[in-house]
Amino acid sequence: MKKPITSDDAEDCFSGFPVVLATVAGTKDNIITLAMCHVFSVKPPYIGVGISPKRFSYSMFTKSKDFGINIPDKHMVKPTDICGTKSGRRVDKFEAAGLTREKAEKISAPLIAECPVNIECVKIKRIKAGDHTWFVGEIVAARKKEGYDRLDSLLYWGDYRVIGNKVK
Ligand SMILES: Cc1cc2nc3c(=O)[nH]c(=O)nc-3n(C[C@H](O)[C@H](O)[C@H](O)COP(=O)(O)O)c2cc1C
Repeated sequence: MKKPITSDDAEDCFSGFPVVLATVAGTKDNIITLAMCHVFSVKPPYIGVGISPKRFSYSMFTKSKDFGINIPDKHMVKPTDICGTKSGRRVDKFEAAGLTREKAEKISAPLIAECPVNIECVKIKRIKAGDHTWFVGEIVAARKKEGYDRLDSLLYWGDYRVIGNKVK
């Protein structure tokens, strides 16, 4: 038997969402941890990130022409959590999280050297949806560390996890 649940409980039913560290350029570069990140189109390749207008990063994403999506792995929970709990309003998150800036090939946003995957996106669309705004970007360049295993990437929904067993 199934019982009605609240919208909060419904959202909690998901096993988790991929965690990324999004980077953006500004007077001071910033990093924000996001679990709202999804592929919006395959051809052309679009990725969207959902950011609350309450975040310091929000106006940076609004002003910037591009952003970076950096995928951390399971060994990077600490810096990922720092970038998701501290604000760029007060700290330099590269310093606070002990992360290294890497120059991107095609965008102004910096990338994160420690992340095994770096994706460069040029912003093409902004979609306001309730309490988050989705910034959709086209992938213009990407790089991946040799031997990267996506099973080592992080999921988040209340706690950090790695992906489970293959069922098919
Ligand atoms: C695992 C995790 C996932 C998060 N996902 C999102 C998200 O998808 N969208 C969002 O607006 N904030 C998200 N946050 C919150 C921001 O990362 C957090 O408020 C951050 O400190 C904002 O930084 P800023 O003030 O430099 O913009 C998440 C935090 C954590 C720890």
